[in-house]
Amino acid sequence: MSPVTDIINELVNMHNTSDENLLQLICTENELPQLTSAADKIRRDHYGTDVYIRGLIEFTNYCRNSCYYCGINAHNKNACRFRLDKQDILSCCDKGYPLGFRTFVLQGGEDPYYTDDIICDIVYSIREKYPDCAVTLSIGEKTRKSYQAYYNAGASRFLLRHETADSVHYNKLHPSKMSLENRKRCLYELKDIGFQTGSGFMVGSPFQSAENLVSDLRFLQELSPDMIGIGPFIPHSETVFADCEQGSLKTTLKMISILRLMFPYALIPSTTALGTIHPDGRELGLKAGGNVIMPNLSPDSAKLNYTLYNNKLCTGDEAAEQLESLKIKVRSAGYEIVTDIGNVKR
Ligand code: 5AD
Repeated sequence: MSPVTDIINELVNMHNTSDENLLQLICTENELPQLTSAADKIRRDHYGTDVYIRGLIEFTNYCRNSCYYCGINAHNKNACRFRLDKQDILSCCDKGYPLGFRTFVLQGGEDPYYTDDIICDIVYSIREKYPDCAVTLSIGEKTRKSYQAYYNAGASRFLLRHETADSVHYNKLHPSKMSLENRKRCLYELKDIGFQTGSGFMVGSPFQSAENLVSDLRFLQELSPDMIGIGPFIPHSETVFADCEQGSLKTTLKMISILRLMFPYALIPSTTALGTIHPDGRELGLKAGGNVIMPNLSPDSAKLNYTLYNNKLCTGDEAAEQLESLKIKVRSAGYEIVTDIGNVKR
């Protein structure tokens, strides 16, 4: 076994290390302040103290899928379903622009109500009204033709977490009609089309092993995404994983730091899920190497019903309206929220 300091130095210098070393970092029970500070240094080398903000617009919680972990899965008959129309979505942008948002992230379940034409019209209208803003889509698995149409309409970024890069594990989290293979197909097509592409995974999802996390890192090396979103798994009461344990704060923070060292250029959000499991989760995620926050611009009714997991933060500082208070917290953590389109610095 190598001393932890050697492993961290190797990650700092080579942005890579062996599976064995990664497992050792992931499995150590100790806090690893050297890992956090090495990640923070690399983050500052690439992005200074800048924290990019993305205005999250959760526009539909209808979903044709039934991922076992997700609260808006199609089988959840108790979910209170909603859809936002183009005007609702543009109002979210109208609220966000003067606050300094220059990226709007349209996130939703896989909802066939929104045909490609409707999505393209929404994307086009946002870009027409706010040409200095980026539109990010996070709407799941589609055909290459659909992705190309969204790109042509003006969307330049796409978020699609792979969730887990181990196909056996993938099949324990998803129904049989979904596959890791198709998820990867989507990600490679998105990249090929020219999207700034984001992927990622949950930490502590049911049945996940440390080896699975190493596979996640290896898959990300192969994909080389621009954005990497990770957060702890949090159970939702209306899913088959209701009684499973939630992912740990420590492991999630450790994974953020490892990601920062392996992918120095990456846009790594400090996610809402992290903020949900610990009152300072968001700030800790930034200190561990995160450089993006995604406050919620959705109307309250949408925020309340877009429940992927229980106790999701949605009022407080997660709400875009509370940006001033968020800015103060981010500043006291040593960083600065900036008004910037926030492109990746490769
Ligand atoms: N806990 C944590 N994250 C979840 N997601 C979905 N359900 C949960 C949950 N129960 C994450 C998935 C998805 C993203 C939008 O939210 O990783 O890709």
